[in-house]
Amino acid sequence: MANMSPKEGTGRAGKHYRIAWLPGDGIGIEVLEAARIVLDKLGIDAEYVHGDIGWEYWRTEGDAFPARTIELLKNVDAAMFGAITSKPVKAAEAELVPELKGKGLIYRSPIVRMRQLFDLYICLRPCKAYPGNPLNFKEKIDLVVFRENTEDLYSGVEFNTVPPELAETLAKLSKPFAAFKDLPGDQYAISVKINTRKGSERIIREAFEFARKFKRKKVTVVHKANVVRATDGLFLETAKEVAKDYPEIQRDDANIDAMCMWLLKNPFNYDVLVAPNLYGDIISDLCAQMVGGLGFGCSGNIGEKLAVFEPTHGSAPKYAGQYKVNPIATILAAKMMLDWLGEKEKGAALEKAVAQVIKAGKVRTYDMGGDSKTLDMAKAIAGKL
Ligand SMILES: NC(=O)c1ccc[n+]([C@@H]2O[C@H](COP(=O)([O-])OP(=O)(O)OC[C@H]3O[C@@H](n4cnc5c(N)ncnc54)[C@H](O)[C@@H]3O)[C@@H](O)[C@H]2O)c1
Repeated sequence: MANMSPKEGTGRAGKHYRIAWLPGDGIGIEVLEAARIVLDKLGIDAEYVHGDIGWEYWRTEGDAFPARTIELLKNVDAAMFGAITSKPVKAAEAELVPELKGKGLIYRSPIVRMRQLFDLYICLRPCKAYPGNPLNFKEKIDLVVFRENTEDLYSGVEFNTVPPELAETLAKLSKPFAAFKDLPGDQYAISVKINTRKGSERIIREAFEFARKFKRKKVTVVHKANVVRATDGLFLETAKEVAKDYPEIQRDDANIDAMCMWLLKNPFNYDVLVAPNLYGDIISDLCAQMVGGLGFGCSGNIGEKLAVFEPTHGSAPKYAGQYKVNPIATILAAKMMLDWLGEKEKGAALEKAVAQVIKAGKVRTYDMGGDSKTLDMAKAIAGKL
């Protein structure tokens, strides 16, 4: 993975850091505990400040991302996030404590809110096959996904029941809407895909800058512009413009569906991938699966002022409390945080330790075919530092 930071945060190598520590729900708590074992062994001079986030705060306070946690994030150098449990709107409402029921509270994923609130527009997901990982789809895969993180189908502009004013306006302005115009509002739903020029340009530029900085050969733009012509068309056109500033880097593009197929068929044809939010979400899970699955998928949510690092997996309720899941994804996310903080040597040492433990094959969690526990893996990695 080497140094992975497309840009750097405070750049205060060797200084004292204030890190927000957001374990969240389920296995989020366990994998963050594991990450602390390696960070402590590395001797990072940091205070880790706990932040409340997740399902319990939704149930009891009606807010899974309380204002006090938002305040905390305004005053830290970076954050580590575990995972949260999310449920659809109606199921979420049903689990509220009785005093909060019927108050019109609507559940929204805290991580999606965090990305938007702090404008964490880069979602960086490196996917590298470490030698000796029994879960590698193919050896030597080394892909980096840049996913736009704040807009697209995740803009949050959604209508579970379509208001008549919206239906009337759409009927006036859009011919294809004729097929839906006579439906009662509660018989369909609308989720709005919003892609801006600014949002598209900055993520695409980050992907090209990254390719230039780390001498990557190619940037592939993932889209579906042949069908979703307005928004994906804008993304693709913007990419063509931005690419002109990087003549030494090859640019190509592919429809999301074809991309899934080609990635599996020949992952070595690809290098850096850039995509709008939803396609980026899909493609990064596919890439993560090719290098070991959710136990290896790490992610950085990076903005100009704040960066939040996390495993890509969720709270895995069926394993919660068992300390059996793989903490490597979270430990690699901690490595990304070190790069972001400017602690490159420590980041490199951590990655080397992870690679050594994987290669030795003695400590393996259940997903890797072993029976080592979460904290055993963390201790083994710490032991190599
Ligand atoms: N960023 C996040 O916090 C995030 C991301 C995805 C899902 N979620 C939420 O998490 C909850 C559970 O979702 P889900 O079950 O679809 O996805 P999940 O990622 O939590 O787990 C799916 C399965 O993947 C495997 N897995 C996950 N993490 C692993 C690890 N570290 N090591 C080994 N195996 C691992 C397990 O078999 C697990 O049952 C839901 O409420 C969902 O909304 C949160």
